[in-house]
Amino acid sequence: MRIFFYGHNCFLFKKGPTLLVIDPWFSKNGAFYGSWFQYPNNHYLKEKVIQELVKHKNSYIFISHEHQDHLDLDFINSLVKKVKIIVPKYRDNLHMMSLLSSTKHEVIELDNYSNYKIGNELSMELMISDIGVDHDCAVIVDDGTTRFLNQNDCKIYDQLHKSLNIDVYSVQYSGANWFPSCYEFEEEIKEKISKERVTIKLSSVLNGIRTLEPKAFIPAAGPAIFPFLESNLSRGIGNIFVHQDTLDSYLKQNKFFKTYYLNPGEEYKEHDLFTSPIPPPSIKEIADTRNSNYCIWDSLKQELNIQKLISQVKNRLVEIADIKLTGIPSIQLIWDLDSKYEGITIDLNRKSVSSGYDLNLNKYYRVCADKKYFALMSEPKNRWQDISLSFRAKIKREPKEFCNEINLFLFSDIDNIRDSFLATKNISLEKCIVSFKGNDYEINRYCPHQGADLRFAEINEDCKLICPKHGWEFDIKNKGHCSKSNSSIEARKYPK
Ligand code: FES
Repeated sequence: MRIFFYGHNCFLFKKGPTLLVIDPWFSKNGAFYGSWFQYPNNHYLKEKVIQELVKHKNSYIFISHEHQDHLDLDFINSLVKKVKIIVPKYRDNLHMMSLLSSTKHEVIELDNYSNYKIGNELSMELMISDIGVDHDCAVIVDDGTTRFLNQNDCKIYDQLHKSLNIDVYSVQYSGANWFPSCYEFEEEIKEKISKERVTIKLSSVLNGIRTLEPKAFIPAAGPAIFPFLESNLSRGIGNIFVHQDTLDSYLKQNKFFKTYYLNPGEEYKEHDLFTSPIPPPSIKEIADTRNSNYCIWDSLKQELNIQKLISQVKNRLVEIADIKLTGIPSIQLIWDLDSKYEGITIDLNRKSVSSGYDLNLNKYYRVCADKKYFALMSEPKNRWQDISLSFRAKIKREPKEFCNEINLFLFSDIDNIRDSFLATKNISLEKCIVSFKGNDYEINRYCPHQGADLRFAEINEDCKLICPKHGWEFDIKNKGHCSKSNSSIEARKYPK
């Protein structure tokens, strides 16, 4: 099969009359209320991909998940020819299916590990991760000769193994969420946290490469750039949105040299020499992107109906009314820090919401933003997770540890909030044994965050077990405690 890259996470595979396109994102409006844009720019390639879809007899699109940098409805709506759209069958697919059912195309939902024939030439296998607020899906595309794994944003590192027989591997290597960029930390602390997170991510990528031993690695699925936000975000300076130069040094330091850095529109060819990394955008390139695109955020109205916002919060609280929660800091949504009436407070322990806020609380999770941010949250059709990805809020929290319940409350959709809470609460407590320097330890096999399998997780020199999914560190010698999330895998020494 021939393999082309079209920017961000868009890959195109063709063989004979069959064509598969993964995650086409070409929207000139970017994603997440005009905060994210493709880098390098790929807008001019949209027509080419459309023509490919039109001219092939068996044309398919695979959408890995519903984030707007993967599901570009404008693109799908601009296809005159009907194509088949394949999506993973997530526990809650309502949002993605309702978007796609508004198009004229047939939508096929595939189960985890299903193997699906595309024409006579290609097949695909899915590996789904679906717990808590994240659902993502990796896909293997196979033509009988080459097996290509597109892992995109999907953190199934705990499911990778050599016998997947992957020839070409692609996975996201740069950051893609609001922590710590949107948090109010001192700059130095923010940089330190960012560095740690970048290292965790790059080491996951390297572990993936070492496990799979592919012939080639193609970095993809980011970073996006953010031309309407402060320029360091786009340049990956002091934050998690690092570019290919950082990845390149890291992989070379670790003696991996088989990386193909493809520009949008380029074809992967196995026998080409490995290519050079694409540098971060210059200030001029960022300005050009800003000047040639339109920012949706600027056109949003500042009007906020507080009662509508409260009612959205109440709808969520009703869904989790019977789930016992204790010790969760209050969530404060604030649009004017000068007036204690210009915000609301949510108490997850009591499942209550009230007008106003108190800046003197000693445990809180504070989201400060323009009124339009909360106006978006007050509309049932908008996903709270998409709004947070606009990066238009500032977050302050006390204590500093990650709180899973707050994360679930703020990032779940109303349709799956209950399920997300229950799934996380019900993570299996099955035990397994891990070894470190001649000693055995019994631990909980599944990570308390999102259930990654820890059986084969790396244990570093400090005897900290590192979760392969998001890099939480559990101190094996201190009962398996994780200081960043105040959670534990209940480690104890296991007698020989
Ligand atoms: S599953 Fe997220 S850190 Fe383990």
